[in-house]
Amino acid sequence: MTHYSPVAKAFHWFTVLAILCTIPLGLAMLRVEGPVQTQLFDLHRSFGALVLAVTALRLAWRVTHRPPQLPASLPAWQHTASRLVHGALYVLLFAAPLAGWAGTSAYRAPISVFGLFFLPPIAPEDRALSEKLFTLHIALTVALCVLLVAHIGAALYHRFVRHDDVLARMWPERTH
Ligand code: HEM
Ligand code: HEM
Repeated sequence: MTHYSPVAKAFHWFTVLAILCTIPLGLAMLRVEGPVQTQLFDLHRSFGALVLAVTALRLAWRVTHRPPQLPASLPAWQHTASRLVHGALYVLLFAAPLAGWAGTSAYRAPISVFGLFFLPPIAPEDRALSEKLFTLHIALTVALCVLLVAHIGAALYHRFVRHDDVLARMWPERTH
């Protein structure tokens, strides 16, 4: 088996799209005022909740389906680095939205998911706690972005420096 399965690829690229919506919305919503701010907050929380839900499904899939082996020619440290970064990405894909959900719960703001339903609060009402949780939320998001730079850098390194098939095995279409 040399490629990720279509399901694993779908989870991966759906997560990329959801993150690409969540982060700009998070940055924009704190920099505007009026009713549009409320809409951006709702959208940010909705896409963030989507990341959390997709990550939960994806991990359930991942533990029951082994990913393809990396090329045997890769140095051992790169095998280890890949495992560590992927593991940390999964942790952060959970922890960052959970901290946002908990912070919003402690603030007692409603969390409407695309206007379909509300997420229940998962922390006691406490404004000081909500400030701390938002600081944590932002720190976890920064950590996620740092790892993503390394992750995407590694994918491009494989494609353009090593010329191996590591990027191709996660690419939406088969390239060979
Ligand atoms: C992977 C998912 C998520 C990512 C990557 C993310 C990212 C961000 C970013 C980049 C900001 C702006 C930080 C700043 O400019 O200072 C932010 C703020 C915020 N996020 Fe998220 N977020 C996610 C999920 C969530 C979820 C699920 C919720 C709530 C249900 C949430 C609630 C908030 C709130 C309320 C703020 C404003 C915090 C403040 O007032 O300081 N986020 N988030
Ligand atoms: C929000 C952005 C992204 C996130 C959260 C993310 C997350 C992940 C995770 C968790 C895995 C591990 C899959 C597993 O084995 O279970 C993975 C694999 C992979 N990702 Fe990403 N990724 C992102 C963006 C990208 C981008 C933009 C590229 C390409 C330029 C990319 C290329 C790859 C490749 C090639 C693999 C497979 C690595 C291997 O074969 O071991 N990712 N990604």
